[in-house]
Amino acid sequence: MLELTGATYRYAGYARPVLHGVDLRLDDGEIVGLVGPNEAGKSTLCLVASGLAPASIGGDLKGTLTLDGTPAAGLKTHELAARVVVGFQNPNTQRSGIAATVFEEIALGPMNLGLAVEETVARTREAIARLHLESLIERDPQRLSGGQAQLVGIASLLAMRPRHVILDEPTAQLDPAGTRLVGEALRALAEAGTSLLIAEHKTDLLDEVCGRILVIDGGRIVMDGPTATVFDDPRLHDLGVEPPARARLARALADRGVEPAAVTAALAQGLGA
Ligand SMILES: Nc1ncnc2c1ncn2[C@@H]1O[C@H](COP(=O)(O)OP(=O)(O)OP(=O)(O)O)[C@@H](O)[C@H]1O
Ligand SMILES: [Mg+2]
Repeated sequence: MLELTGATYRYAGYARPVLHGVDLRLDDGEIVGLVGPNEAGKSTLCLVASGLAPASIGGDLKGTLTLDGTPAAGLKTHELAARVVVGFQNPNTQRSGIAATVFEEIALGPMNLGLAVEETVARTREAIARLHLESLIERDPQRLSGGQAQLVGIASLLAMRPRHVILDEPTAQLDPAGTRLVGEALRALAEAGTSLLIAEHKTDLLDEVCGRILVIDGGRIVMDGPTATVFDDPRLHDLGVEPPARARLARALADRGVEPAAVTAALAQGLGA
């Protein structure tokens, strides 16, 4: 379990905090979505929940982060990295810069965990298969498209088989097919017991994979509930978050006096049959 309590965080050199009293709990095997308008604090919360802020990037944190009962503040950087991994929107910030091939790039994570070669290779192969990257394994990681680089970045995280994963807009550069692959991979990870926090503007992906959604605005959690409840809440639109297609369709039908259940029933009976 990853638990953040009462997190108020201020970037180094700034007078005012960006996060205010944020509580966050990720149970094992749970996928939680994080949505909110631009500048709401999603990326900052990803940094704090992964322990990178303040340990690596500085700043001031009030509140505590605990990972499986251990306070993150007492962990060394490599101990932290073994428990929680974080992926960023821009895959270039994540690339090691030292691997000559995509295969090596993905293998670096498990290798750095000190695993045996056979285990490292097995995990690397599994991550490659999971995201269908077989055709890229010999390629230079510096010469990939944005979408390919993003998938390689996610494969690198998967290969570490982490207990906790924090992803900041993991599908920002992906087309629908790539987004679907990532969704399937994240679900498989959760089924194996990993807990995940996913900050995303693409609510359709979150609608498919998340059990719970947090809405952040102005550095405060303003909504927290089951995915369907939050995405069907009319306040979401006012907060600058576009609900998933499913919720938009249900709303459009309701506005015309049609119950979504009636449509589902009609479809099940075979319309026009
Ligand atoms: N490194 C930094 N130093 C100082 N302030 C920062 C830093 N990064 C972000 N901020 C500020 O923190 C606030 C929250 O930004 P953050 O990047 O967390 O928002 P976000 O919800 O991820 O936005 P977006 O949807 O655009 O990605 C903003 O006011 C931003 O200007
Ligand atoms: Mg962001």
